[in-house]
Amino acid sequence: MMAGPADELPQPDEAALAHSRALRERIDAAIAMAGGALDFAEYMALALYAPGLGYYSAGQQRFGPGGDFTTAPLMTDLFARTLALETARVLEDVGGDTVLEFGAGTGRMAADILLGLKAADALPRRYLIVEVSADLRAEQARTLEALPSELAERVTWLERLPKQPIRGVVLANEVLDALPVRRFRRSASGVEALAVGHDARGNLAWQPRPADEELLAAVAEIEQTLDQTLPEGYCSEWCPGLRPWVHSLGDCIEAGAALLIDYGYPRAEYYHRQRATGTLLCHYRHRAHDDPFFLPGLQDITASVDFTAVADAAEAAELSLLGFATQGNYLAGAGLPQLLEQMAAGDPNRAAELAQQAKPLLFPDEMGERFKVLGLGRGLTAPLVGFGFADHRDRLHLKSI
Ligand SMILES: C[S@@+](CC[C@H](N)C(=O)[O-])C[C@H]1O[C@@H](n2cnc3c(N)ncnc32)[C@H](O)[C@@H]1O
Repeated sequence: MMAGPADELPQPDEAALAHSRALRERIDAAIAMAGGALDFAEYMALALYAPGLGYYSAGQQRFGPGGDFTTAPLMTDLFARTLALETARVLEDVGGDTVLEFGAGTGRMAADILLGLKAADALPRRYLIVEVSADLRAEQARTLEALPSELAERVTWLERLPKQPIRGVVLANEVLDALPVRRFRRSASGVEALAVGHDARGNLAWQPRPADEELLAAVAEIEQTLDQTLPEGYCSEWCPGLRPWVHSLGDCIEAGAALLIDYGYPRAEYYHRQRATGTLLCHYRHRAHDDPFFLPGLQDITASVDFTAVADAAEAAELSLLGFATQGNYLAGAGLPQLLEQMAAGDPNRAAELAQQAKPLLFPDEMGERFKVLGLGRGLTAPLVGFGFADHRDRLHLKSI
């Protein structure tokens, strides 16, 4: 799916180009303010979230066939319906009344989870959404308004996490891959930060500079867990926002589970010697490529998730690790096969149609293996059934397991 050079990608129309130029001016000003080189995490934050201009903050279509990429909940409601089964069990286990979703995109998953919980007779008192993009909050509201009022009225948007810890379930699908990352390179003399500046022609370009204390410490920790020094020239990413994000998750769960679903790897695979150019991936009109400087504001920029880092941070935040599995295995364990059988109700044509819809979620060559599910939580009396089929937490190589 990787396209070649960015100039082979489809060209946008004049209005889209004008939007990108406006964001580019904002980025150029930030580069100048930073003395000629802006840390990549700051560049990524502007490219994705600069108010009114960033990819997630402006009004263009991002998701689905007319956008740049699609996500599991937009492909079929089977994804959300299966998560709803686990959610119902957790709500019952902890006597919970709340579902909290981070980064709800179009609102489709929220709508289908609520429909699934209604079908399971397990509607929570409230469904909270924490969403950084004002534009997406409006889109989510439009999606959720179409639900019966008994469901729609349970949804509330929060600017930040609730002060009062919740009892229930936290969901985040493809949110962690959208957190800004820092980019680094191992050099003969140490570690360089790959910042963003301009080349001689004024184009955005990588600007290596000596790593600061924060990045040096992060790379040292990575190398310590790998038990080896990364080879000279090795480039990769590290997400500074991950640990604080997991900490705030720890603060906001009184009892219940968090299901974090994303593409990524345990640390040993993430920083594997063969993955020597990192994990940055950009999406533009359903083409994936690795040039984060292509038309800022018009493309998504992501990095894979270091699930060992998430699990480590969870341990520090006193959240238990409830399981780690590929998306395919998790959904199989959480009840997708039974759901398919129930929805087909003995009709072989419907069964074939549903199996077709489920395939991309489950199959290893589609989303089944690249996407992972990490479960965290506290105060549960029963294990999450989604990890009953397979649990690969040993692959995270945490010190404690
Ligand atoms: C790739 S989209 C995924 C959308 C949706 N979850 C789905 O699966 O279709 C990433 C979403 O996360 C949101 N987001 C990014 N960082 C966030 C944060 N720190 N807190 C809450 N939402 C965030 C984005 O605005 C966007 O809605």
